[in-house]
Amino acid sequence: MKILKTAKSLQETRKGIDGLVGFVPTMGALHEGHLSLIQKSLKENPVLIVSIFVNPTQFDSPLDLEKYPRNLTHDLSLIEQIAPDAIVFTPSVSEIYGNTVHTKNYAFEGLDRIMEGASREGHFQGVATVVEQLLDLVKPDKAYFGEKDFQQLQIIKKMVSQKKHPTTIVGCPIKREPDGLAMSSRNQRLSNEQRLHAPLLYQALQEAKSLFQKQNATAAHRHVEALFAAQTHFTLDYFSICSEETLMESHVDKTEKVRGFIAAQLGEIRLIDNLKF
Ligand code: PAF
Repeated sequence: MKILKTAKSLQETRKGIDGLVGFVPTMGALHEGHLSLIQKSLKENPVLIVSIFVNPTQFDSPLDLEKYPRNLTHDLSLIEQIAPDAIVFTPSVSEIYGNTVHTKNYAFEGLDRIMEGASREGHFQGVATVVEQLLDLVKPDKAYFGEKDFQQLQIIKKMVSQKKHPTTIVGCPIKREPDGLAMSSRNQRLSNEQRLHAPLLYQALQEAKSLFQKQNATAAHRHVEALFAAQTHFTLDYFSICSEETLMESHVDKTEKVRGFIAAQLGEIRLIDNLKF
């Protein structure tokens, strides 16, 4: 495994690579979800580049940034076990942003202001800024992102198409714990008690899906609201049924490909999930 810390060393290494390059960008605290992206990239490309970079511009709260789980040694050993030839890029903030940490301005036609974007000011502008910068440095043939952050995936696809970036963006299915909780680096921060309650998010999505299919979106919404109102651990942030393509709620009908999206606060920790309806 090769560990590179500077943009210059990455660019030099990249110049020497001939075959297809698969790229898995991460913020570390790796779990099986990340490892499934790595496995998919290994199947489809002879060369794998993984980045580990906790991107400050996508956090709207300094406390959330500070508390984001970090464990580089463990991350590197997980990658080494399944991809001993991987190139791992672990830049500092100044390697990515220079002297001023800044966010670029993208026109996402409102896609970045609904759901996660409504709750986390500037989040997707920060995500797009870092992903564009990483794609420019890594120049991958394909880049792999988890569907747990489905809105992020759609926004990255839009950014790549707007910028006419040659990389193909590949979405990969959500990995779940046996009780249904979607795998996420943030799960590491849950207390034992919170962990017991966390599967409510997936339960709500499954029950809403069944009501949406048998009845309609209103019945699904009412049920999710009642489920959250009946307990005190979670505070529901949003539940939306949206078109997969546009992420818009207003045009949802049963002939469209739709997904349920949910976000809720469990103590200090914000969890999100989504499910194909
Ligand atoms: O999904 C993530 O881990 C991050 O948002 C990403 C895509 C690596 C950008 O920092």
